[in-house]
Amino acid sequence: MLNVESLRLEFGGVVALKDVDFSVEMGELFAILGPNGAGKTSLFNCLSGLVKPKGSIQVNGNEVIGKKPHEIADMGIARTFQNLGLFGSMTVAENILVGSHLQIQGGAFTAAIRWPSVFRSERQARRNADELMELMNLLEVRDSVVDTLPYGIRKRVEIAKAVASKPSLLLLDEPVAGMNHEETETFVEYVLELKKQLGLTIVLIEHDVAMVMRIADRILALDFGEVIGLGTPAEIQQNERVIAAYLGATDESDAQTELLMEGAISE
Ligand SMILES: Nc1ncnc2c1ncn2[C@@H]1O[C@H](COP(=O)(O)OP(=O)(O)OP(=O)(O)O)[C@@H](O)[C@H]1O
Ligand SMILES: [Mg+2]
Repeated sequence: MLNVESLRLEFGGVVALKDVDFSVEMGELFAILGPNGAGKTSLFNCLSGLVKPKGSIQVNGNEVIGKKPHEIADMGIARTFQNLGLFGSMTVAENILVGSHLQIQGGAFTAAIRWPSVFRSERQARRNADELMELMNLLEVRDSVVDTLPYGIRKRVEIAKAVASKPSLLLLDEPVAGMNHEETETFVEYVLELKKQLGLTIVLIEHDVAMVMRIADRILALDFGEVIGLGTPAEIQQNERVIAAYLGATDESDAQTELLMEGAISE
């Protein structure tokens, strides 16, 4: 459903992405792995129209490059951000309703004269938000102001907001960064359930190698904007370039390398 070809993105002299090629199948959980500055977020920015790269990105056969972010959202692509993309002073339910604005038919004119279809779609959006809150176990906090909630729950709200627009492709940028082990486990369960229930295709950027190895169908490994590996978790784990990219960089990377080499995927 997603086909990326010869993708190249430069910022002044910095080459953030260099000849990146890959495709993602419908229903896949596709992970992107790579050290800091590898180009992972830049890739998402290309996919969601925030920057304009060279090359081609097709979603279900339609070209994404050159389209505006809202046009790309209309094509069924939703994303979360590395930093929370929520309205902190609004409630959980309000945030999710904002996310479903795409689904509400009729522009300002229709809304102004209050056609029955607007009531209908408004009601539909509310029902949709309720269903999502139930699925993500957020009904209890539906009227809580987002800023007052623990990080793990806020991240769940963010995903519910992203999928409220009924996307077919969901892009998650390091969703478990800053979560403890238990929060991560819970979060992963919710994401997998959501994927199953809504038939989503997911592209996931993640530093947590053990988690990626466990849940991804396939992994793309980037380093300095280049693809250094593409394959199943088992293949990536054996990939010498991937292991080397994780060697000797930061302390965090060292720990991740150990995980890679120890066979974190055995479970
Ligand atoms: N707006 C920008 N202007 C200039 N350079 C940028 C910009 N955005 C990203 N870069 C550069 O592009 C490269 C890739 O950055 P990117 O944020 O995509 O990395 P990343 O893989 O997401 O890293 P992290 O794991 O830290 O989130 C880096 O060298 C970064 O400094
Ligand atoms: Mg990033």
